[in-house]
Amino acid sequence: DMDSVEEKNVVLAEREDSLFKVHLLGATLLSWKVDDAEILFVSDKAVFDNKKAIRGGIPFVFPQFGPWSAGPQHGFARTSHWKLEKEPEKLPNGDVQAVFTLCDSDSTRALWDYRFKVTYTITLMDKKLNMEVDVKNTGESEFSFTVLLHTYFNVPDVTKCEVTGLKGITYVDKTRNEETFLEDREVVTVAQLTDRVYQNTPSEHSIRVVAGNRTITMRKHNFPDTVIWNPWKEKAKAMSDFGDDEYLNMICVEAGSVSNPVKLGTNQTFHASQVLELT
Ligand code: BG6
Repeated sequence: DMDSVEEKNVVLAEREDSLFKVHLLGATLLSWKVDDAEILFVSDKAVFDNKKAIRGGIPFVFPQFGPWSAGPQHGFARTSHWKLEKEPEKLPNGDVQAVFTLCDSDSTRALWDYRFKVTYTITLMDKKLNMEVDVKNTGESEFSFTVLLHTYFNVPDVTKCEVTGLKGITYVDKTRNEETFLEDREVVTVAQLTDRVYQNTPSEHSIRVVAGNRTITMRKHNFPDTVIWNPWKEKAKAMSDFGDDEYLNMICVEAGSVSNPVKLGTNQTFHASQVLELT
């Protein structure tokens, strides 16, 4: 039945007061709970058919952020079946770690003819979730890619959510012909359709969920860009796997390397990471 099919595809890691869940389709983080509070948003209408990208959590965007002439929007990683390389395991310091991998296959090479290995290491720490991304070029030719962790945060009221670390930053506004603007706000709030790629952001943002009374600190390394996205009312209605009013309950703050593609030569490895900390 459906439940046992799902169980096989979902990896659960737990420690005393927290847990995370990862769906092997896309190595999509579905849940991060700390003291019973769910930090990530997953749509009630998300489709779990092992084919369609899961609407919510933290989808893994690779090797292309955004529209892609060679294949699906945001690349194939989020719709590929990943391998559980290392089951959740308690480390000597009490942290719990699991490792997921994605290698090239006939289907990835049909779209993108390169050899690679992506290693995604997720570590559950005390009130922290750490994500390490390694992309290795295992082939004979150089390739370029973009990569991003498409984090959907669960918030009771998006209009009462404040994101810092963006003041003075140049952003591309995808809702305004990809024109470039300068952010002048100390604290960024969202009250309309928002789709912006902030470029060369500082390594730290705080996502203050005023209504939910919590703050999540995002620290990133080698992810120079930060995308802020909320589909708002009209686009929400148009998405089949997203509830009409759910836009009020989520905000995407996405760390990635998307403005300038990463170039990787034979045998080279790209490393980047993000840590989310609840305070
Ligand atoms: C964001 C993009 O990262 O993802 C948006 O900036 C896009 O343009 C959004 O609409 C959701 O994409 P998708 O493919 O999951 O519907």
